Amino acid sequence: MKATKKRALITGITGQDGAFLSEFLLAKGYEVHGMIRRSSTFNTDRIDHLYRDPHDPSAQLFLHYGDLVDGGCLRRIMERVQPDEVYNLGAQSHVRVSFEQPEYTADVVGTGTLRLLEAVRDYIGVSGKPVRTYQASSSEMFGTMPPPQSERTPFYPRSPYAVSKVAAYYYAVNYREAYGMFITNGILFNHESPRRGETFVTRKITRAVGRIHCGLQDKLYLGNLDAYRDWGFAGDFVEAMWLMLQAPEPDDFVIATGESHSVREMLDHAFGCLGLDWRAHVEIDPRLFRPSEVDHLRGDASKAAKKLGWKVNVGFADLVRMMVEHDLDLARREKSLRDNGFKVALRGNHAQG
Ligand code: NAP
Ligand code: GDD
Repeated sequence: MKATKKRALITGITGQDGAFLSEFLLAKGYEVHGMIRRSSTFNTDRIDHLYRDPHDPSAQLFLHYGDLVDGGCLRRIMERVQPDEVYNLGAQSHVRVSFEQPEYTADVVGTGTLRLLEAVRDYIGVSGKPVRTYQASSSEMFGTMPPPQSERTPFYPRSPYAVSKVAAYYYAVNYREAYGMFITNGILFNHESPRRGETFVTRKITRAVGRIHCGLQDKLYLGNLDAYRDWGFAGDFVEAMWLMLQAPEPDDFVIATGESHSVREMLDHAFGCLGLDWRAHVEIDPRLFRPSEVDHLRGDASKAAKKLGWKVNVGFADLVRMMVEHDLDLARREKSLRDNGFKVALRGNHAQG
């Protein structure tokens, strides 16, 4: 390892944000280390294009097996990597799934954050290195509080996921206050991209649009169409994570576009991109409703604009178009496979997401 390069450790590197953040940090000249979970199938699709064999002297991305439920491995990874910056993105991040797996979600999202902060604290204790930590907090923490939500808005979480994120948020605040650690909460509103997991509503919709256009699918089953979200582009949002760790002091920042749309409006835009009418294809499946819903998220990111100089580059219409175009291309490739006798699975439908 070269001593001159800044070194970042990312938990959740295989997720949407992990992939964008890795690209961003590598472009800034960082040596990037990611923690990945052992899986029976490969789970590194989103970062494969960045990976080089570690024997290659030009390799700058290194992966380590680990899990936020395993405190011992977190300590070992800290000691091995000796990071300057830690980005805690790892999570069971699906809100509806958190109602099915509440204990596991709390263990990974809440207690997992505590385990990581303990590992960072102990590493700082032995090394004296002023490690800076980013905690991936969420607008879900605001729950029922009316928009616009800012750093001053109280939390009212509405799911096991959101409750666990509130716990993680306060662990981060407490470690900052108790031990003087540089820990910053980024309270990020929904952010999407062609890399978004296929059971989150935007991607579920754009995947369906591509497949319906290509004749691979006819129906799209959804839950609540009346929820409003502040949807931004993940590429813009990872820049904010990095900016937060370059600030002179640790703090908490809302990151959002300031504009909200309903799921229904998302359907209008996405189907409209290909001249389709969603009413002919969408059906409501009550199993996709949540036991308690978050009705309206719209963030006020003026503090981040003022203190970090952060701004939105990709707006809602461009984001939806980017995702539809990507998923149309994917559907065309799936169709070509199917036309040549290969079986194409509509995987988003395996579990109700
Ligand atoms: P994502 O695509 O679901 O990625 C989650 C990552 O966490 C994956 O790399 C996943 O690994 C990893 N992970 C899951 N369980 C883990 C465990 N037990 N130990 C270690 N890693 C684990 O999520 P994302 O959209 O990139 O979001 C990144 C972070 O920001 C998450 O903490 C999320 O809750 C938070 N957040 C997201 C948004 C948003 O709109 N995207 C908004 C606010 C906050 P596998 O690939 O192996 O599953
Ligand atoms: N996933 C999903 N699937 N959501 C649906 C569906 C469906 O079939 N039908 C309607 N929705 C509604 C949900 O009820 C919710 O109100 C809205 O679409 C958005 O759902 P998701 O895309 O699953 O995102 P989320 O807002 O619950 O959570 C995401 O954003 C949070 C930040 O606010 C996740 O990325 C969280 O990890 C993140 O913290």
